[in-house]
Amino acid sequence: MENLHELLVNRRSIRRYTSEPVEPEAVKLILEAALMAPTSKSSRPWQFVVVEDKDMLQRLSECKPAGATPIAKAAFAIVVAADPQLSDPWVEDASIAAAYMQLQAADLGLGSCWIQVRGRFAHDGTPSEEYVQELLNMPETLPVVCIMTFGHKDEERRACDTSKLLWKKVHIGTWKDVE
Ligand SMILES: Cc1cc2nc3c(=O)[nH]c(=O)nc-3n(C[C@H](O)[C@H](O)[C@H](O)COP(=O)(O)O)c2cc1C
Repeated sequence: MENLHELLVNRRSIRRYTSEPVEPEAVKLILEAALMAPTSKSSRPWQFVVVEDKDMLQRLSECKPAGATPIAKAAFAIVVAADPQLSDPWVEDASIAAAYMQLQAADLGLGSCWIQVRGRFAHDGTPSEEYVQELLNMPETLPVVCIMTFGHKDEERRACDTSKLLWKKVHIGTWKDVE
């Protein structure tokens, strides 16, 4: 990608992936992006679990009844969790790391999608966070924010139409109500 703005215009959530594996070097760069993400007081409260095993990806895709299917066919997924004891804005810390990974993936020409886990529930009413923790043998004290899916794209998405950006959400100087 030529520059950051172009990358931001072209990045879209990709939910379909080919069966082609992703090079280990690309996985490393994506993880590096997460580990370089800014955190409150440089607390770095996050933990990342990289999952490539097909059976495990399938089981992770069942962490909630809807919206998690991309996990099953991803080349790999990264479970993003963070320790609230280390940072009060742990959700923000984890989210920024997740977003950094998406941008790095986009720069590598890979597709990615954020799958929300925090605050969601599995079929049987179990919190999705607990379902994921149990499956991956994670400590209960480490809440899961999201699962990021990655892979070679098997769908094309239109770039963002910058002429349709919601400029009415931007208030200059003071708040202004807009109908
Ligand atoms: C906090 C958050 C939660 C999301 N949860 C899901 C999800 O559970 N499943 C999914 O398929 N996409 C999920 N997405 C992706 C959004 O649906 C997507 O970013 C949005 O529709 C805008 O599309 P774009 O990313 O292609 O620009 C999530 C994105 C964010 C930022």
